Amino acid sequence: METKIFQGELERELEQAAELLRKGEVVAFPTETVYGLGGNAYDETAVRKIYEAKGRPSDNPLIAHIYDRKQLNEFTEGYSSVAEKLMDAFWPGPLTLILERKAGILPDCVTAGLETVAVRMPNHPIAKRLLMMAGVPIVAPSANLSGKPSPTTADHVIHDLSGRVAGIVRGGSCMVGVESTVVDVSGEKPVILRPGAVTREQMEELLGMEVAVASGNVADTETPQAPGMKYKHYAPEAPVYICTGTMEEIAEKIQSRLMGEHVGNIGVMVSRQTKAMLRGLDEKLSVDLGDREDISEITHNLFAALRYFDELGVDIIYTEEFSSAELGAALMNRLNKAAGNQRI
Ligand code: TXA
Ligand code: MG
Repeated sequence: METKIFQGELERELEQAAELLRKGEVVAFPTETVYGLGGNAYDETAVRKIYEAKGRPSDNPLIAHIYDRKQLNEFTEGYSSVAEKLMDAFWPGPLTLILERKAGILPDCVTAGLETVAVRMPNHPIAKRLLMMAGVPIVAPSANLSGKPSPTTADHVIHDLSGRVAGIVRGGSCMVGVESTVVDVSGEKPVILRPGAVTREQMEELLGMEVAVASGNVADTETPQAPGMKYKHYAPEAPVYICTGTMEEIAEKIQSRLMGEHVGNIGVMVSRQTKAMLRGLDEKLSVDLGDREDISEITHNLFAALRYFDELGVDIIYTEEFSSAELGAALMNRLNKAAGNQRI
């Protein structure tokens, strides 16, 4: 299939992308978190094309993207006051809410048969405009091949999905760099199913109540709360090791491995500060993730770094542990998944 590339800032090209969506085709587009692969939520054939293009297991449900809260009446059973407070504070933004779904409206493949549906209102000028032009809720998982890191640039999407989708809208690199926070607000108490840029601390302060975090370790046989959690995610081809301790200890651990006996190429993916402490680095094999004190910069750069090492074909990757507070929870969640929790 020929994949059309659209310039998202050009109204005329965006209108063509929206036309493809209305016709039941799938089109990738930028959001503030990561690029999404969109299709008309009401069109079962379009939704199936998304699963097929990504190679995504069909029991992993999708997020419906909207531009106006009024759209919720079409396909959900409404929402609690907790959900409303979260929408008031964080929509449009990197927050996905799990709401009770209205029966018989969305095709079952959107929600993988669940009674709930995930909804998000993205905060990106191109996404907002495209959703408005499409006029229907657009389901969109991250626009990567299943099992790859989510794409944070149009080039990442082109790499994974060129020839497999009808269109890709270009829109620069995604500001946040990791996927939205997913919060289940369909029950009595809010539960974070996936950490993201809207943090637990922010939500607790807003709501004046404790917000629980679901455990990420779900056995394949259980029915997980966020079905996506059971799949291997974000793992590059090479094994990743997270070095822990003080900055000196981290640098020492990486340095000894760089100088020790080894076969193959060692990739190093660390903060600017840690990089400055290492000697004899091969520039091509080392990625500066940014300022260790600026977790948003590190988070923004993470997935591109993982993809870079896949392209290079390194044999092993060393990285460092960052703070798990606030946005750090999302960063370390993705890093732990990339590493399969391997620590040194
Ligand atoms: O930032 C994002 O959320 C991006 C952009 C494109 O919006 N989208 C994204 O979609 O990350 P995806 O499909 O890669 O991740 C959706 C997550 C999965 O872990 C899925 O299992 C969970 O949300 N999810 C979807 N519907 C659910 C539901 N009804 N109940 C529980 N979890 C659900
Ligand atoms: Mg994904």
